[in-house]
Amino acid sequence: MTLLVTGGAGFIGSNFVLDWLATPETAGEPVVNLDALTYAGNRDNLATLEGDARHVFVHGDITDRALVDRLLAEHRPRAIVHFAAESHVDRSIHGPGAFIRTNVQGTFTLLEAARAHWSTLQGPAREAFRFHHVSTDEVYGSLGPSDPAFTEDHPYQPNSPYSASKAASDHLVRAWHHTYGLPVTATNCSNNYGPWHFPEKLIPLMIVNALAGKPLPVYGDGQQVRDWLYVGDHCSAIRAVLARGRVGETYNVGGWNEKPNMEIVHTVCRLLDELRPDPAGPHARLITHVKDRPGHDRRYAIDARKIERELGWRPAETFDTGIRKTVQWVLDHGDWIARVQSGAYREWVSANYAAR
Ligand code: NAD
Ligand code: TYD
Repeated sequence: MTLLVTGGAGFIGSNFVLDWLATPETAGEPVVNLDALTYAGNRDNLATLEGDARHVFVHGDITDRALVDRLLAEHRPRAIVHFAAESHVDRSIHGPGAFIRTNVQGTFTLLEAARAHWSTLQGPAREAFRFHHVSTDEVYGSLGPSDPAFTEDHPYQPNSPYSASKAASDHLVRAWHHTYGLPVTATNCSNNYGPWHFPEKLIPLMIVNALAGKPLPVYGDGQQVRDWLYVGDHCSAIRAVLARGRVGETYNVGGWNEKPNMEIVHTVCRLLDELRPDPAGPHARLITHVKDRPGHDRRYAIDARKIERELGWRPAETFDTGIRKTVQWVLDHGDWIARVQSGAYREWVSANYAAR
């Protein structure tokens, strides 16, 4: 048995691959990891798997149908776990084209290749085959302060080019199940944080800027609410869905942990004051309010009762334990941070924050 993972050199994908091969129940099942190594993909994340025969890394694009066909024919995976995506809302505002290409066209290509492959399977192999699609709570749009959290039946109301492209991919996955019977499952997860998180997203950006004594750019009033989940818990949720999820079903995954951005930034500052005090003063002195993101969603919140009820999944990490581990991880991985803050990263930071 083999898994085909897409985007397994990115933040969540690399955590998933590392966890999969370290968890006793799954460690014996090899992973073929297809990743285009965009700015967000990094083989350093997988360095501990160097020379490990259970991990086959393939540098390639999910829009390359011939390559995907070849990988399916050669490795005959029992499941595809699809992480590969353009994932940053701010980048989707500056350049939406790549989001349509990878998130929509790429998902379409994978679905068609999976359908062709699945149609050749028979008996137990055909029964067992799964296409698992990894998606986001952002497809549901923005909540008011007292609205109930997103359930799986919440209407789709994506507001950014990123969330619209993910919503489109979700609809394709649903249609390939409904029309062709492809055995799909899907998860829509809230904001993740943890090791290997690229420092363009809120939490790692605030940690690395605070360590460098740079401004901590909070968009608008900083009262936007996200539901934060430690990445290892997202990985365990996907493992549960792969093992026991019902075909054709979507499961919302979240941390029961809604927090406004300002609270997140203050927590990061407090932890750094404790773990790496700055002689110049408390890190919170660096907090700077900047121009808001266009179309900024005010609140996301996940109702994760379905996955708990059906599959017995709940997050293992609290925010206090997860954020402490995350800050400590960045402190321990200064080399990784320095390497990803390459020329391309600096260009992005100046493009995104210059006019704010
Ligand atoms: P990421 O940007 O860190 O990683 C994406 C990975 O996909 C990178 O390794 C990149 O090289 C690869 N990739 C991009 N385009 C590709 C292509 N055309 N072909 C092959 N590989 C390609 O993203 P992430 O934060 O790890 O997110 C992974 C998935 O989880 C995405 O589908 C995202 O929508 C979803 N998700 C993310 C979050 C979050 O908080 N980060 C929350 C919910 C859902
Ligand atoms: P982000 O990590 O980009 O995730 P998403 O937009 O997918 O939720 O942003 C999380 C929140 O933090 C979001 O409300 C935007 C805000 N934010 C800032 O205030 N400043 C920043 O520099 C960044 C990157 C995000």
